[in-house]
Amino acid sequence: MSEMVENESVAEPLKETKPVECEEKTKPQEEEFPLPDWVAPWAREAPKIVVRAPGPKSKEIIKIDRDYVSYAYDRCFTFTIDRASGSAVMDADGNVLLDFSSGIAVQNAGWTHYKVTKAIQDQAAKLIHSMANDAYFDKEAHFAKLLSDISPNKALKGTFFGNSGAEAVEAAFKLSRYHTKRSEHVAFFGSYHGRVGAGLALSSKLKLRYSYGPMSPGIVFTPFAYCYRCSFKQSYPECGMWCMDYLENQVLTMGGTTNQIASIFVEPIQGEGGYVVPPKEFLPRLKKICDAQGALLVMDEVQTGFARTGKMFACEHFNTVPDILVLGKALGGGVPLGAIIAKHDIMRKWRPGSHSSTFGGNAITMAAGLAHVQAIIEENLVDRAAKLGDYAMKLLKEMQVRREIIGDVRGRGLMIGVELVKNQYTKEPHEATNIQGKCWRAGLMTITAGFYGNVFRIAPPLCISKAQLEKGFEIFEQALKDEEEFLKLGTSSPPG
Ligand SMILES: Cc1ncc(COP(=O)(O)O)c(C=O)c1O
Repeated sequence: MSEMVENESVAEPLKETKPVECEEKTKPQEEEFPLPDWVAPWAREAPKIVVRAPGPKSKEIIKIDRDYVSYAYDRCFTFTIDRASGSAVMDADGNVLLDFSSGIAVQNAGWTHYKVTKAIQDQAAKLIHSMANDAYFDKEAHFAKLLSDISPNKALKGTFFGNSGAEAVEAAFKLSRYHTKRSEHVAFFGSYHGRVGAGLALSSKLKLRYSYGPMSPGIVFTPFAYCYRCSFKQSYPECGMWCMDYLENQVLTMGGTTNQIASIFVEPIQGEGGYVVPPKEFLPRLKKICDAQGALLVMDEVQTGFARTGKMFACEHFNTVPDILVLGKALGGGVPLGAIIAKHDIMRKWRPGSHSSTFGGNAITMAAGLAHVQAIIEENLVDRAAKLGDYAMKLLKEMQVRREIIGDVRGRGLMIGVELVKNQYTKEPHEATNIQGKCWRAGLMTITAGFYGNVFRIAPPLCISKAQLEKGFEIFEQALKDEEEFLKLGTSSPPG
């Protein structure tokens, strides 16, 4: 009896195997993480190069621009952007590029998201300027409430809206002084907080500061936890966070301050500094130092905010709630907008007239920003960034094994830095410009960061599809391979 059953059970699957296989082969494979439905048809075909850039239309525009627009912008592509949708942009000549930059971490929900477009159109038909200085406006109130609701641990309440990231940094700088009645600040090597006023003074890079001194006095700089290039030549975790000891026991006691620290400004993951992720102890320790000093911890999440890192805010990866959170870029969904949100007692210190801006809480920026942040929530982009980010990280780590030019891969969510080196042992930086150009010619728009200009930012719109991500990495790896062949890097070996 048991034999019969056994025989039957062996025979059955054999009979069924074939039709099942056929069905599986013919069944269209449903793509995991597809592009959302609203993305324009042309953008689904990215990349598509139709003419060598710059094409004739682009050339015309660039010619006028070079005559009439300031040279201050350091543009890395001879590219004239005409339209964009989802995770693709089109130039004036019809070339379609796949985008790994999100317009520097601005278009988190995707370029030209239909909800943002509609919100702007509807609002513009009704009211453009909301006179935030003198009147109340519904969307400003609702947006401030939403930001409080999604703030880390829901611990922040009280928003001030301005027009850019740098202006938001300025507001945080002023509020921390106003609250503490102190005038000294700590910032980090590799930091970037903007190009004007306090933001510039808090930014460390020489190129940004050159010829603009003297800056606001009372700012001291200290090394960030950039473990791949540790300022103290230590290794984590054996170092026990030497950089934090240095800040606590040397900078704050012998670094020339007068014990009047109003605030410490930090990016939870450094952006322009090279997508540098500090160890998990870094931010909690910083908060402790602030509390011991009676100083405020200001977290600049202009680049890391709004689902980019797989959490709504990057500080959540480190279980650290700042006293003031600085927002910009993705906050506006593509329109100029910055804001700070603070602990209630801190924000409440500002009395009417303590700070202001003509266009703060502007009707169009509020409508656009509110729609963008709502889309990020409704479309669960935190989760998508976390999952696609894990997948991207896996692919890049595998690529690192194949490509000696990659020294380090690090990041959270879809904010990943790929640091290039001439030699993995000496870690001599390899400048990224050639590779960036190659990617661009092949239809992938990538931007770089880092003190040496050798870190690629993998920061696509969070609506990018898995297939597009893979396509982008194919182009990226080919460009790295070409560069390696050019440099004959295949033979790098330990020094000596
Ligand atoms: C972390 C950070 N803070 C502040 C800023 C300045 O923002 P904005 O260019 O909008 O003034 C930036 C811009 O890149 C940034 O990355």
